[in-house]
Amino acid sequence: MKVYLSQDAAAKALGSEAVAAALKEALGDTPLTRVGSRGMVWLEPLLEIDRGQGREAWGPVAPGDIPAILAGDIPSLGLTEEIPFLAKQTRLTFQRCGIIDPLDLAQYEAHGGLAGLRRALGLSGEQMIDEMKASGLRGRGGAGFPTGIKWDTVRMAHADQKYIVCNADEGDSGTFADRMIMEGDPFCLIEGMAIAGLCTGATQGYVYTRSEYPDAVAVMRRAIELARAAGVLGGDVLGSGRAFDMEVRVGAGAYVCGEETSLLNSLEGKRGVVRAKPPLPALEGFLGRPTVVNNVISLATVPVIFEKGAAHYADFGLGRSRGTIPVQIAGNVKHGGLFETAFGMSLGDLVEEIGGGTASGRPVKAVQIGGPLGAYFGREKFDTPFGYEEFDGQGGLIGHAGVVVFDDSADMLGMARFAMEFCAVESCGKCTPCRIGAVRGVETLDRIKAGDGAAVEVLTDLCEVMKDGSLCALGGFTPYPVLSALEAFPEEFGQVKEAAE
Ligand code: NAI
Ligand code: SF4
Repeated sequence: MKVYLSQDAAAKALGSEAVAAALKEALGDTPLTRVGSRGMVWLEPLLEIDRGQGREAWGPVAPGDIPAILAGDIPSLGLTEEIPFLAKQTRLTFQRCGIIDPLDLAQYEAHGGLAGLRRALGLSGEQMIDEMKASGLRGRGGAGFPTGIKWDTVRMAHADQKYIVCNADEGDSGTFADRMIMEGDPFCLIEGMAIAGLCTGATQGYVYTRSEYPDAVAVMRRAIELARAAGVLGGDVLGSGRAFDMEVRVGAGAYVCGEETSLLNSLEGKRGVVRAKPPLPALEGFLGRPTVVNNVISLATVPVIFEKGAAHYADFGLGRSRGTIPVQIAGNVKHGGLFETAFGMSLGDLVEEIGGGTASGRPVKAVQIGGPLGAYFGREKFDTPFGYEEFDGQGGLIGHAGVVVFDDSADMLGMARFAMEFCAVESCGKCTPCRIGAVRGVETLDRIKAGDGAAVEVLTDLCEVMKDGSLCALGGFTPYPVLSALEAFPEEFGQVKEAAE
């Protein structure tokens, strides 16, 4: 009998450690394997037992359930893989998450790990770029910039030192994909960074993450030690004589440090203030050297591209959005969690069918996609397929693919105010439209709430200035939630309808 229990931070928050203690006492000599999360957060703590017929699932499990589960008195949910939320997914990036012991390199290899790196070692830098371009992978942090082109810019740059920086400063509301990979399959990120290093000529990498992710920091640090000891990192990447090493750096959790130039400043020990672009980090990044800055999911997707081939990856998807996207379903939703799917699934299916509608049982009113800077989509936009261009066409953005669900009790003017307030609090202060505009935005929304209809025009003007005049996405994208809430729910902005009539 094999017993598995998630040790992901979400599972811990929901009581997995007390379940682990009860299991250890009841199991005696039978080992308990701690794994990452399968991503079905509403079932955490999720217990899986394999008695030779595949892994059966129980969840959410309380410590007091353990004796009855082991005695066969509590029926399971069936085979984990057959739970519809999991069965309907296409897991490429998250293929091992929740399945293997995150710190067991042998298990990682047994499940396809390091095959991509081994293949990459036999390719030239140019061939690797061709593979990346053919895969169609675009930056999963939010901007969707083609990863192969970014890598090529760094590869072609001349410098004594180049760097790979992994942006693991996951700060969007309702997102947890980066954390899940770091806690559940850290070698996958290490392998992706090593391939990026081999391709571009970078020999040093950094994972920049936040102090709010202590478990991810601990797992990543241990995984790096183990990878180094096994020759995956350091001066002898898998016996090839090539070199790539990396370390984890922890920031204090300012939202703006997820913006790549601010992140680089923080990594250099400076204040996390945005730098003007150009120069692009690909040419003058960390310490002024050519630097690949990619999100965790972009880098963790690289191994499967090299393992299975670019064509296999690019075969999934819709239009220019190739491959899969790990959608994080959160907020007021029945089945919250991580759902990796090929691009193309409609927003409505994700929220209603996969997410099961709201946890409160009330009708869904709106969803915010792409974090605090993402637009609110009402039900009239639920046909929108998940794809970069498709969302853009509807006035939204995918961002880091966080979907936060709200029921019909949500106060949309309050949410618009929250967006401005968030921007005011998190602004790095470098440019005026964001630093001052966000404060004026809060005041203007308060005027609208108090019944001042003329303030709506001021608000839309202000949003245009913030969009056009801000240096980075924080100030530039805050108008998305504000204007989308105004457009979809004008009646909640009181005077708006009267002003239009
Ligand atoms: P951007 O469009 O300015 O740049 C995208 C990436 O492409 C950057 O790494 C940039 O350096 C690179 N790039 C652009 N042109 C290039 C070229 N010619 N050669 C090589 N590299 C090139 O977008 P930005 O400001 O980096 O990111 C904005 C996005 O971040 C938003 O879409 C938002 O959704 C997302 N975001 C994500 C968060 C998260 O927690 N993951 C938090 C906040 C925002
Ligand atoms: Fe800083 Fe805001 Fe300007 Fe970005 S938009 S550089 S966060 S002040």
